[in-house]
Amino acid sequence: MHMQQHQVLILDFGSQYTQLIARRVRELNIYCEIHPYNKQPPNASDFSAVILSGSPSSVRTDDAPHPDLSEIRGKKPMLAVCYGAQYLAHFSGGKVAPSDTREYGRANLSFIKDNELFFSEISEGSQVWMSHSDTIKELPTNAILLASTSDVANAAFRIDGEDTFAIQFHPEVYHSTDGKQLLENFLVKIAGIKQTWTPNSFVETTVANIKQTVGDDKVVLGLSGGVDSSVAAVLLHKAIGKNLYCIFVNNGLLRKNEFESVLNQYEGMGLNVKGVDASARFLKALKGLSDPEKKRKAIGNAFIEVFDDEAHEIENVKWLAQGTIYPDVIESVSVNGGPSATIKSHHNVGGLPDFMKLKIVEPLRMIFKDEVRRVGASMGIDPELLGRHPFPGPGLAIRILGDITPEKVAILQEVDAIFINGLKESGLYDKVWQAGAILLPVNSVGVMGDERTYEKVVALRAVESTDGMTADWVNLPYEFLQKTSNQIINKVKGVNRVVYDISSKPPATIEWE
Ligand code: XMP
Repeated sequence: MHMQQHQVLILDFGSQYTQLIARRVRELNIYCEIHPYNKQPPNASDFSAVILSGSPSSVRTDDAPHPDLSEIRGKKPMLAVCYGAQYLAHFSGGKVAPSDTREYGRANLSFIKDNELFFSEISEGSQVWMSHSDTIKELPTNAILLASTSDVANAAFRIDGEDTFAIQFHPEVYHSTDGKQLLENFLVKIAGIKQTWTPNSFVETTVANIKQTVGDDKVVLGLSGGVDSSVAAVLLHKAIGKNLYCIFVNNGLLRKNEFESVLNQYEGMGLNVKGVDASARFLKALKGLSDPEKKRKAIGNAFIEVFDDEAHEIENVKWLAQGTIYPDVIESVSVNGGPSATIKSHHNVGGLPDFMKLKIVEPLRMIFKDEVRRVGASMGIDPELLGRHPFPGPGLAIRILGDITPEKVAILQEVDAIFINGLKESGLYDKVWQAGAILLPVNSVGVMGDERTYEKVVALRAVESTDGMTADWVNLPYEFLQKTSNQIINKVKGVNRVVYDISSKPPATIEWE
């Protein structure tokens, strides 16, 4: 395998901030990988530098994370953050104890000794973010104190004779104003890593890897119209050309005209794509179902059947490509042993039905969402496609509360199209992370002319988010909401009331089902 260059190994002890460390390192154009401290990769000693993450645990407890660092400690430059720092102190002869004062929030650094970690660009008084309940009371004898804050005496230290540095604060959090600079000082100045990991270099390495792994085999990939599967397809296409067979399924629950327009777009990109209109099959599978999880399962099963039928049409296909991205991978091999409880049944990594028996290729499994977009842009993919809002796999089925009928789908498609086109025309689309309309299972009273009507209510939802895990409703201009509501009620037969969802996640979710 071609290695991604200049790697940094991040050993995860379960901190909520570990992914952020990886994000900051990648922003420096340096490649890094997160691995759980207890499942280190076999080539750990090949990495150019190591970062130890924070953790919710205390080194003083029996079940505290206890990594085996024998292959790397003292041999590779190491930066230990928060728990990592406490771990180093505790197991090298220092003393860690519960803190007497509150050590949470902003603090300012006082330098004790000049050193490469702070030297260059970071000044005395620099703001850092603390978040810990244990503190390092005594440093190991071979440690050199580098910095303190007013409440934390041992805020940064290094081990004499080693490129091992430890900091009690979190450089990965934005509140640590020089945190990224500190990471750069460590990785570039101390570890000597070059900042050459770019979307272009990723494409080059990944295409070479795919060629080597897949060879002349045929690969099948399900396109969804979304960013991840599209970028994965273009990467694979670059590597193996016509041996990539793409399948784009219309489940009848897509946005208005989406199947035709996205299919055209894919064809225009030179992809070998087959559009399969299975709307009737999906609607039949959904008939009479109103429980959200049952709807999801019915759609998931129907998709597998359709996809399997289509994959069997491709003679001698050996591989299934998936658009899995790094956060899904990290989640599925987390320190705690598996996907966390927050994950719904739909977020399935490696969801390969047994009977398909294909090997899996996942070209995006090591990159984050915004990196997927940058990789896509570097390969010349249409910015409009790359900027598309996320759209759930079960599509409009989970935005029609209750049972699904073709009439309801048609109504919601019209409403959704007015809303989304309106956002685009008003220049608001790119400011919103995700938007859509929801058809509610209630009729409300209205007046039209002299007559009372009992018609459907639709809710509009627009949220800001970075990853869908938390979200806030968007403060759309009243004029926009007014215009959109008028258009919907005037143009879409069967709807007489529009409401706007002003709930944030948590406690609400983005979707209504
Ligand atoms: P929630 O509703 O959990 O949504 O706040 C978070 C993100 O996940 C999407 N979502 C789904 N995506 N299949 C998917 O592929 C699903 O069943 C599903 N449910 C929610 C949702 O659109 C949002 O982006």
